[in-house]
Amino acid sequence: MIEAGAAPGATNSRIVAAYRQRTARSGALAAEAASLLPNGIAHDARYLDPYSVYIERGAGPYKWDVDGNRYIDFFGGHGALILGHCHPKVTAAVAAAAAEGSQFGANHPREIAWARAIQRLVPSAERLRFTSSGTEATLMAIRLARAFTGRDTLLRFRGHFHGWHDHMTHGYTNHFDGTATPGVLAGVAEKSILVDPGDLDAVTAILRDRRDICAVILEPTGSAFGQVPLEGEFVRALRRLTEQAGALLILDEVVTGFRSSRGGAQELFEVRPDLSTFAKIVAGGMPGAVVAGRKEIIDQLDFDAAPAAGREKIGHPGTFNANPISAAAGIACLTVLAETDANEIAAARAAELRAGLNEMLAREGLSWAAYGTSSGFHLFTNPSRRKGIRPESFDPHAVGAAELKGSEKQLVGRMRLALLLNGVDSNPRLGGFTSATHTSADVADTVAAYRAAIAMLRAENELPG
Ligand SMILES: Cc1ncc(COP(=O)(O)O)c(C=O)c1O
Repeated sequence: MIEAGAAPGATNSRIVAAYRQRTARSGALAAEAASLLPNGIAHDARYLDPYSVYIERGAGPYKWDVDGNRYIDFFGGHGALILGHCHPKVTAAVAAAAAEGSQFGANHPREIAWARAIQRLVPSAERLRFTSSGTEATLMAIRLARAFTGRDTLLRFRGHFHGWHDHMTHGYTNHFDGTATPGVLAGVAEKSILVDPGDLDAVTAILRDRRDICAVILEPTGSAFGQVPLEGEFVRALRRLTEQAGALLILDEVVTGFRSSRGGAQELFEVRPDLSTFAKIVAGGMPGAVVAGRKEIIDQLDFDAAPAAGREKIGHPGTFNANPISAAAGIACLTVLAETDANEIAAARAAELRAGLNEMLAREGLSWAAYGTSSGFHLFTNPSRRKGIRPESFDPHAVGAAELKGSEKQLVGRMRLALLLNGVDSNPRLGGFTSATHTSADVADTVAAYRAAIAMLRAENELPG
């Protein structure tokens, strides 16, 4: 553990200095990358001030940076790694597939086995189409919904993330008024309307009064994997309302799929969507995704079934759709999930971690709280300095979305650096995902790391009290 030092002041942070010292090779690489890549990064969530660490390898719940520092990993490959890094079955499957060829420009047997492995866990996946990313899957889902219903407007929830294509950019981190983000046509944004999550009255009114809603799409457990949680009853109500209104229900299970339960949030909530999108776990840590659902909707992609149903076929190429290496990883991962208790182990570790963090926060007298469901955890850092927060009985449903998502940028950034200094890689909001490879010892070490990081922040006067 790094000892908490004396307070040097926010502009001359000891945490930042220690981080720079401990991750010098990462710092040098970041400086070089900055001349080539915006901010030196490849994904906005990997942005960190002053720079992010460069990772060389991972194994199980750990990853190591180029300076040789080991981290307990809760970033979890953006949620893809429910089996941890380099699960032996996934690694063997990928190696075998890579040795046979990465791109045949043709069908291959693994894509059938992959589709079956998904269908085994997700009964609503009557038919499936593979894409290369979750973004492509949600793009296709709404295109299918618009074509199927003959309606053009999509209903989304503020703060819910569905990838970065043009229909999804406003209302996620900004432009909550529905205006288009830079580079997106105003007309496209207008056809993707926003409602506050959980506001059933608003959804009811829109679906009652308008005849142009093709679909309602949501992150079923709430935005950012339940950072702003939704109840199962809300999702079930959406199912009823969409059905009555002739609109489709699209569950974006890119994160929740195979994680909220083996069969995803739809199994957990007992909701059968018209369409679902999956990525991350579905491809076992490789690039890959799928849009799946009712046969007659997905069949709009079918050269024969579409015209037979009186519809124009929807085109869908994609060089790396269902590529054999991702297929191999996906089959291996989904088979482990179907045949072992990996999903439950990951969830049990997260429950242990949430409880351990809350116990520690209470002992520290800090009005923060850890919360979440299944194999995830979020850290509420109480940006409004609310009184009466008790970590162990914190109810995120009693706190608004703005507060749950709100953060003090410098405090959270420094906390993340302090966690890295203490051997833990969280996500940018200080929460993360557990995997089936995290042990109870890792959980205990993580709680100790959070405690040490809090001490470092206190020493820099970054924390109240
Ligand atoms: C709920 C959700 N939908 C869609 C996406 C986009 O997936 P991808 O990053 O594979 O494009 C993400 C990515 O994090 C996601 O969390």
